[in-house]
Amino acid sequence: PTPDDHVIVISGATGDLARRKLLPGLYHLARAGLLPGHYRIIGSAPAAVALNDDAFRAHAHEAVAEFGRTKPEGREWREFESRLTFGAADPEDPGPLIAAVREAERAIGGTPGLLHHLAVPPQACASVVRMLGAAGLAQDARVIVEKPFGTDLASARALNQAIHTVFDESRVFRIDHFLGKESVDNILALRFANGLLEPVWNRDHISHVQIDVPEHIDIQGRAHFFEGTGTFRDMIVTHLFQLLGFIAMEPPATLDANSLRAEKDKVFQSLRPLDPARVVRGQYAGYRDEPGVDPASDTETLAALRLEIDNWRWAGVPFYLRSGKALAESRHVITLGFREPPLRMFPLAARESADGRHNELVIDFDDPGTITARFLVKQPGPDMRLTQAEMVFDYAGSFTQDHALEGYERLILDAMLGDQSLFTDAAGIERLWEVAAPLLQSPPPVEPYAPGSWGPDSLRHLIRPHRWHLPEAS
Ligand code: BG6
Repeated sequence: PTPDDHVIVISGATGDLARRKLLPGLYHLARAGLLPGHYRIIGSAPAAVALNDDAFRAHAHEAVAEFGRTKPEGREWREFESRLTFGAADPEDPGPLIAAVREAERAIGGTPGLLHHLAVPPQACASVVRMLGAAGLAQDARVIVEKPFGTDLASARALNQAIHTVFDESRVFRIDHFLGKESVDNILALRFANGLLEPVWNRDHISHVQIDVPEHIDIQGRAHFFEGTGTFRDMIVTHLFQLLGFIAMEPPATLDANSLRAEKDKVFQSLRPLDPARVVRGQYAGYRDEPGVDPASDTETLAALRLEIDNWRWAGVPFYLRSGKALAESRHVITLGFREPPLRMFPLAARESADGRHNELVIDFDDPGTITARFLVKQPGPDMRLTQAEMVFDYAGSFTQDHALEGYERLILDAMLGDQSLFTDAAGIERLWEVAAPLLQSPPPVEPYAPGSWGPDSLRHLIRPHRWHLPEAS
């Protein structure tokens, strides 16, 4: 489906997110013919850093050239660019933004939808929302709010309240771009469309789960955002917890927004509050020398933790979550470790040759991603020796990627269509901050690790008696 005509306003249009994801994503949607017949995109920012229309177009051109999938050129670019304008806005003076929105609405004609994307840090969110309300730009509009949503329970509650005085919950789209990734949506298909997997997806058969998102990149100059956020808030309580919701949820009655979100929230309700003794916080060597970083900074650039879900399906099954910057590789991997059958019938040498690795289902959701089932087979020869084998499903080899959208692209489209299925709700977010509270109150000290490594040694202790699936060679 194609959305109705729209005016899209990006607050924070000169920031990093707009440059890396939103402007390139919108251009891709335009090229793919997925934007409405008539649309305008308005960049906005405080007057102190505002651009004029031409400078904003040049900014967008640079962003798409650097981060887009196709070069910004030719007729397609000129057409896209002609729909870009800029409107400065400060809490005391939203005048230029109001004028830009009214002008865009006039140019489109009729009553186009209005979608605000707040690409601003959590601390700035409430004041932008109030400003939009006071400026008369919230009525009948939808709003996309970035993660992390607040920085703890109190601020998330306050932000939800501030938003709800201006936008009805049905118009609030709390975005988590991981939920827009193809392979994440595919978790639902994998789990609930397959009789092969559905019956074993529980504590009787699964011994532990790993959700592992190491990143090779460092903070890439984002000290201002990162110092106040850290990996736990940036990645774990957001992206990785949302993935956990999909991996752990009960089958929803339907795939509509209410059923899906209700099932995800039930998982969050059953999460045991974090135990700080089961959390590792790391900081890569050299982080404190990055421009804009406090030389005594305690911000973590890596976080790993053990979580438990106290419900009928998962009681006693540890979930290990890990993410960090400046690590050896960039990967997105979910691993389900299966319980072992009694292997006594096999001679000791046979068992030893299996190297303690048991059956695993590995969901690699790098776009486009793979799914691998790992199991033991007999090695050919006169002796019974067990060895690892695997079956791999490869998205790229199985489908053309012509219609694939990146996370942000899919979700911006869904927001224009009014579909909240892949967005988070107020109750779920507040519960996750509740789960996080013990850690935020007494965080363990950060442990240093070498850039390009797999993080501090204590990560191995955290996951015992299991082992991290990554790095694969180990
Ligand atoms: C963002 C975080 O939400 O996700 C970044 O703010 C992180 O710090 C990024 O690098 C990772 O997203 P992806 O899709 O590249 O894995």
